[in-house]
Amino acid sequence: MVFIHSTTSVTPAVDTSLKRSHVDFSRHLSLEARARLPNPIKSIWKVAQVKPGTINMGNGDPHHTLYPICEMNFVVPSIDEHDPVQSWRSGTGEQDVIASFKDEPCTLSLRTAFAYGAGAGLKLVRDTLADLNDRIHSPPNHTVSLSLGNADALTKCFRLLGDPGDSFLCEEFTFSAMTNAALPLGIKWAPIRMDKDGLIPSDLERTLSEWNEATQGKRPHVLYTIPCSQNPTGSTLSLERRQEIYRIAHDWDIVILEDDPYYFLQFDLDVNQSTIQEYGYTRAMADVLPRSFLSMDYDGRVMRLDSFSKIVAPGMRLGWVTSNNFLAEKLDMLTDSSSQHPHGMGQAFIAELFGSGGWGADGFMKWISSLCNEYQRRRDLFMDVFRQKVASSGFATAEVPKSGMFVWIRINLEHHARFSSSQTPTAPGGPTTNTADLMDELFKKLLDSGLVLMPASTFAIVDRTGRTSASHIGDRVNFFRATFVGTDETIRDGLTIFGRTIEEFFCF
Ligand SMILES: Cc1ncc(COP(=O)(O)O)c(C=O)c1O
Repeated sequence: MVFIHSTTSVTPAVDTSLKRSHVDFSRHLSLEARARLPNPIKSIWKVAQVKPGTINMGNGDPHHTLYPICEMNFVVPSIDEHDPVQSWRSGTGEQDVIASFKDEPCTLSLRTAFAYGAGAGLKLVRDTLADLNDRIHSPPNHTVSLSLGNADALTKCFRLLGDPGDSFLCEEFTFSAMTNAALPLGIKWAPIRMDKDGLIPSDLERTLSEWNEATQGKRPHVLYTIPCSQNPTGSTLSLERRQEIYRIAHDWDIVILEDDPYYFLQFDLDVNQSTIQEYGYTRAMADVLPRSFLSMDYDGRVMRLDSFSKIVAPGMRLGWVTSNNFLAEKLDMLTDSSSQHPHGMGQAFIAELFGSGGWGADGFMKWISSLCNEYQRRRDLFMDVFRQKVASSGFATAEVPKSGMFVWIRINLEHHARFSSSQTPTAPGGPTTNTADLMDELFKKLLDSGLVLMPASTFAIVDRTGRTSASHIGDRVNFFRATFVGTDETIRDGLTIFGRTIEEFFCF
């Protein structure tokens, strides 16, 4: 276990007048998690690990002299460049080579990285990420376990916490790839209303207080939320909303699954140059990055999911889960008996990148800062072209996202000649407009014109039959999710097609 001790002096973001509770997290475990026995081989392996010099004749682990590899070289941008992302993109910057070896000194020997390991991941990599966490979130007494990215971590958390018949809370439009993954486990979703600023705390509280266990089953005990660059709406929760949501979670004994892969991609940050000079990038960035739920988690109810997918590359398949020690142990047991540990190459790369021969944590945060500037430039370009080519017609509007990759574009269907708002619902409480049909038509028209945008209906919560479960949602699927991660050319070309097609759709 890696215990993280707060070293930075960040003021608590949560109301500390709330009394620290001693939550019994065993009540949150699924039957599957309660029934799971530790992987007996891993248990012995852990004992062998703590006694240096022990001869291990017990494992089916190939001997490292038979690994057909002795060295890996990673060519990376030099972090000494003034703006490393720009120099890297333009090919004008210096490059560095950082290396992993099997038989020569380096931060993490390939002997260790390529051997079987514990489900939680290698201690050195976990400690590195625990240190990063500590400097950014200052979480009290949490543990870091590695994952194969947030999708892996989430599906494991669902299994850890959910039983058939349970309802989990989530944003009403959400990353359906993940919420759908919970449905075969028998987990149902209770969607919470959102506005342009994300999940609405008062609707969360209303849902919990009006919950009728006789008709709706067990009251939800898990909230799945994407606080930054919410997928798909692009919204980022304000500090006030986070504090309020945490307070509600505390009052109703809810575990918060904080799925935050876009956390490090924030825009319009006022990074203090003298803090950089005096304390380095990590401190300067920590001062301006949003306060996570983890940073407020004085009673250990947050399972925070971070990923390298959006800040290094998705093929890394590496992330980290930060949670209380009890839940971390249960999660590690699940990993020990399923996917085992994350792959060695990813761990070796991160170890060297953060190590003394690589960028170090501060260099990594310099890269992040530079990456934020580049994504912000793309967002600004997207919004400029969007205003000129699309919004100028009045047929579509969009909020400017504060983080991440997504723009949530509202199609102003009420201006369409064939829009109807007085349909008789096919089911009680069903849609009263033809929004879904018109959006389907527009989606197909865009596709024919050579542009893919993700329709909101893709992200609406569905039940196991694939039907949307929130009755009001059918009238509110008049949005598309667009991303601004592409090149300047694709942004300009894509939005030109969008502008032309939407005018045709509305005017003919
Ligand atoms: C909100 C959200 N969660 C999880 C994931 C999956 O991330 P990973 O690549 O770390 O598995 C994504 C990827 O797009 C995402 O948008």
